[in-house]
Amino acid sequence: MPLQLNVITVSTRPGRLGPAVARWFEQFARTHGKFDIRPVDLADFALPVYDEPNHPVLQKYVNAHTKKWAASVADADAYVFVTPEYNFNPPPTFYNALNYVYKEWNYKPAGFVSYGGVSGGLRATQMAKQLVTTLKVMPMTEGVMVPMVKQMVDEGQVFSSNELIDKSATAMLDELLRWATALAPMRGKAP
Ligand SMILES: Cc1cc2nc3c(=O)[nH]c(=O)nc-3n(C[C@H](O)[C@H](O)[C@H](O)COP(=O)(O)O)c2cc1C
Repeated sequence: MPLQLNVITVSTRPGRLGPAVARWFEQFARTHGKFDIRPVDLADFALPVYDEPNHPVLQKYVNAHTKKWAASVADADAYVFVTPEYNFNPPPTFYNALNYVYKEWNYKPAGFVSYGGVSGGLRATQMAKQLVTTLKVMPMTEGVMVPMVKQMVDEGQVFSSNELIDKSATAMLDELLRWATALAPMRGKAP
């Protein structure tokens, strides 16, 4: 059974480019062939600003949206976050979704596909890495950066990659597989 990789689109605004970038990456990862790829769109969960009465570590969720989100996060062996950069940070929807659950994230690796202007979303990734480590998520050194994303998405729908981006995606997926396999016993899974 291949390990499960959830590819999570974290921007939710109308007209967002995130899904175009995510669709490309999902297809690329399927061709890579080592993971069971599951597309996850944060917009489908419509998470409000954190509204649980208990600390997430207790897993005493009262809201249906939290239970649905917790099940999705728990399902994965690894994550790729497809994130834009908003004011040198990830969008608040991303931080909000990270905060909602805790144990479900633990002992899993994560890669970042970031996009934006000249920075390629790199500053957002660096900020997010700090938060994910508190959730015991291991962020990958290897990452995918997409500068000037608007020019690379045709009609807001179809993302066209290039050799450099493809190379970084392969390097990130290879590392993710190594970490997801190595951390499996910590998640109570046979290696
Ligand atoms: C509120 C806001 C802040 C932004 N700040 C940045 C930024 O700091 N750096 C950057 O490269 N692009 C920035 N952008 C441009 C985004 O990278 C670009 O709009 C991208 O398409 C956003 O992702 P999305 O379409 O999935 O929402 C910003 C966009 C928004 C809406």
